[in-house]
Amino acid sequence: MPQSSRVQKAVFPVAGLGTRFLPATKASPKEMLPIVDKPLIQYAVEEAYAAGIRHMIFVTGRSKRAIEDHFDTAYELEAELEAAGKDELLALVRSVQPSDMDCAFVRQPRSLGLGHAVLCAEPLVGREPFAVLLADDLMVGPPGGAPVLAQMMSAFRQQGRSVIAVQEVPADQVHRYGIVAGESAGGPLIRIERIVEKPKAADAPSRMGVAGRYILTPGVFEEIRQQPRGVGGEIQLTDGIARLLGKEAVYAYQYSGKRYDCGSKEGFLEATVELALQHPQVGASFREYLRGLEL
Ligand code: G1P
Repeated sequence: MPQSSRVQKAVFPVAGLGTRFLPATKASPKEMLPIVDKPLIQYAVEEAYAAGIRHMIFVTGRSKRAIEDHFDTAYELEAELEAAGKDELLALVRSVQPSDMDCAFVRQPRSLGLGHAVLCAEPLVGREPFAVLLADDLMVGPPGGAPVLAQMMSAFRQQGRSVIAVQEVPADQVHRYGIVAGESAGGPLIRIERIVEKPKAADAPSRMGVAGRYILTPGVFEEIRQQPRGVGGEIQLTDGIARLLGKEAVYAYQYSGKRYDCGSKEGFLEATVELALQHPQVGASFREYLRGLEL
């Protein structure tokens, strides 16, 4: 029987070391790197909130304190802004944690992989379907359309089964992604028959790469617990999903919108330029500035 309970919790694995962004990430979490004026993690939390989720679970590690502080009250800052009558800034600061949203933090004691990080959240998730958002992947919905996780929620409501965001990736990049293959299930949905983590181009079953958004049924926890270590010696989420496939249907969802791989310098810069161009305060002047550059 399809599981139909609501998705009320989102898991954000944020324990990674961010080695691709050293030295910036030596003492600060990579998820706190800003795109224009907002840290990456806040974009992901806002996407989960826009999809109706109110319980945010962060799987964190050492040197990640700034993330907890970001989603907490900033007492001194708020008191000073209030005293100075800076109401707009005060509202902006308070909007980071809406009053109907709660945040929980659990530690991943060792870097054993994404699957292991998700498993660390199990005691807080329980036996419910849940979302996983990788903040490195900044996802922007189509102009005027629903954000990516909200699109996936509609698919989950229809299917009652796990739904994973995918996009076509260039052949020379399949080794960076979880790759899925399967049968079209109508519209943007593919019923997954195979999923493999970071295959060589020659072994890849397709070019459909997993983007960092998942809605998973709780059965995946048991699979992750039992699976051996995978690519890179890590406990991979992809391997847990591959095992889940043997027990229940799992769907890939070809989302509408754009993904910026902000775990890479190029993706981070692309997101910065494109989101700056759309920014209400700086967009127009930044466009002028770019036009004046000799490239
Ligand atoms: C992770 C997943 C991979 C997925 C990717 C999306 O890899 O393991 O399956 O395609 O996120 O960004 P990572 O980029 O953390 O190595």
